[in-house]
Amino acid sequence: MADKKTIAIGISGGIAAYKIADLVSRLTKKGFQIEVIMTEAAQELVAPLTFSTLSGRPVHCKMFQEENEVEHIAIGDRADLMVIVPATANIMAKAVAGIADDLLSTVILAADSPVMFFPAMNTRMWEHPATKANVEILRERGFAVIDPDEGFLACGTAGKGRLGSIDMIEEMICDAMATLESGKDLEGKTLLLSAGPTEEPIDPVRCITNRSSGKMGYAIAKAAKRRGADVHLVSGPVSLKAPEGVHLYPVGSALEMKETIDDLYDKADITIMAAAVSDYHVKNAATQKIKKDDDTLILELEKNPDILASLGARKHGILVGFAAETQNLKENALSKLERKNLDMIVANNVTLKGAGFGSDTNIVTIYKKSGAKEYPQMDKLALADVILNEILELEEPIK
Ligand code: PMT
Repeated sequence: MADKKTIAIGISGGIAAYKIADLVSRLTKKGFQIEVIMTEAAQELVAPLTFSTLSGRPVHCKMFQEENEVEHIAIGDRADLMVIVPATANIMAKAVAGIADDLLSTVILAADSPVMFFPAMNTRMWEHPATKANVEILRERGFAVIDPDEGFLACGTAGKGRLGSIDMIEEMICDAMATLESGKDLEGKTLLLSAGPTEEPIDPVRCITNRSSGKMGYAIAKAAKRRGADVHLVSGPVSLKAPEGVHLYPVGSALEMKETIDDLYDKADITIMAAAVSDYHVKNAATQKIKKDDDTLILELEKNPDILASLGARKHGILVGFAAETQNLKENALSKLERKNLDMIVANNVTLKGAGFGSDTNIVTIYKKSGAKEYPQMDKLALADVILNEILELEEPIK
């Protein structure tokens, strides 16, 4: 029992609480020790006996329930991962405010392990500015918050707020446990990564750029650093702070990005191009501010080199690209995988809400020569770990 991996499952008072019986049963069968913590509202919906029977462990409902143990500290100490499912608007608000007025909120505050929230609630509650702000703060603090699905809700309406499928939740928990177990599985590897937009000057004060915030690339940098990689981040202009311990190379234009990446490429075991590189630059950009004397202004654009394709032409190690598409995701991604000589491509349909440019979450399909895998909407940090796991599963050995 002692060497079993422990997952603390916090159940708050949403009607989806009944679905967690299936989740607890599946995870227990997989060999995890499950410690269930229930709020008072959750106990109104499902009897604790259901979960103690399925997990083979007592269910934790009250502070100071067991003799000789300070419950909220002891559960936090035992857990390798904490999962709040379903997570109500209330429990997330408490986690943000640091309120600890029952066992579950206290365990969250005292937690020493990663915490994942799987929210489920009425659409209006999910879309309320207070909930949105709380989700944003939780993500900023490094908690994983996985968006709920759209569909029919218990309150009789349809919309976003339905708990994600138990299949998806189980897979994400198992992936997170695998990541925790793998620990420093990128120790000794050098990761070269690009992020953010490029800026192509028109004149000294104006430029052509795009909507990339750098969030996707910076999330990969953070996850890879945590997993032990030596991370070299070549970044276009963004307002993000580079994760601690990551080597940062700030660049402006696509040509500057290419020059920097070319210099670093030989040392890289894994290279990931998450940057949104401008395909064109302004030929003969003005050296002085252009005056608005004329009614029209014609800019001549010249093609930028394709950085990724040029790395593909002299490829070594693992080479991963992104594909930002607005249509024909599969065809375009597969064509880039082939044409740029990549091992893997992460394709996002940037027209979808919650995917692509600027958002905290992304929705991707990962294509490899061996096949494709679609992933649900998840925050970019959780996706970063998924991408790194997929890289480590590639058949080609990393030198
Ligand atoms: O930064 P965020 O706001 O978090 O947004 C994330 C993102 C949408 C920018 C990211 O998920 C993403 O899709 N990045 C790639 C954007 C892009 O330029 O895609 P593309 O399909 O145009 O290019 C394909 C690949 O070739 C990319 O890996 C790109 O970095 C690379 N490329 C493109 C053009 C060029 N001249 N040189 C390149 O190396």
